[in-house]
Amino acid sequence: MIKKFIKQKQQINNQDNELSIPEHIAIIMDGNGRWAKNRKMPRIKGHYEGMQTVKKITRKASDLGVKYLTLYAFSTENWSRPEDEVKYLMKLPVDFLKTFLPELIEKNVKVTTIGFTEALPKHTKNAIEEAIEKTKHNTGLNLVFALNYGGRAEILNAVKELYHEVEEGNLTIDDLCEDNIKKYLFTSDIPDPELLIRTSGEERLSNFLIWQSSYSEFIFTKTLWPDFDEQSLIDCLKIYQSRQRRFGGL
Ligand code: FPP
Repeated sequence: MIKKFIKQKQQINNQDNELSIPEHIAIIMDGNGRWAKNRKMPRIKGHYEGMQTVKKITRKASDLGVKYLTLYAFSTENWSRPEDEVKYLMKLPVDFLKTFLPELIEKNVKVTTIGFTEALPKHTKNAIEEAIEKTKHNTGLNLVFALNYGGRAEILNAVKELYHEVEEGNLTIDDLCEDNIKKYLFTSDIPDPELLIRTSGEERLSNFLIWQSSYSEFIFTKTLWPDFDEQSLIDCLKIYQSRQRRFGGL
């Protein structure tokens, strides 16, 4: 069994060893609804298939040695969707972890979240807290779910916290700098993503990691999220590799 696993891993490494792997990949998983509509299925079927894609891409990212994979699972704006859909989306992390947590543990994956998770329903919070607790000592891939996440609200929150520190006399106005803002973001201990992928052909950020993606490479693929697979990720990595990152320099 172990031999088989090592052999599989070597094959993956051999096949992909030409790739430069970003430390942090962030993904806007878009197109579940259209995937379902194309098949005359209810939208939630698209989200269900989207969850299966999360499993595939998590496995692949872990095998490739990616250190952080941040997935936009629910935005602060998604509450405005029909009640049934919101309910289903809130159940997805529960179903995902029920079926996938043992494999995440086996693969040394650490689960964390960013976002205003306090506002999530109890069953969603419980499932996530259990996954965070059971994987907290893992040292492999960090699987970060953005849940009830919004970039503007995150920055506003950081500004309020900093204001409070100034009021308390712990900081002065001269201490306000980019590094201090980063300290109060949900991603304070996560490096900025080198690569941000959005599926489904839409080409916008939709309030996702707007501070953190200042220097990210963006890849917009037409593939709908349920159709995005291991090869799609490799294709994105090849595009990423072909770009030169200059950070404003020459
Ligand atoms: C956007 O597609 C997708 C979402 C708002 C939900 C994303 C959630 C998943 C992919 C499953 C997450 C799984 C876990 C484990 C949390 P859309 O519905 O806006 O698609 P459309 O633009 O085609 O309508």
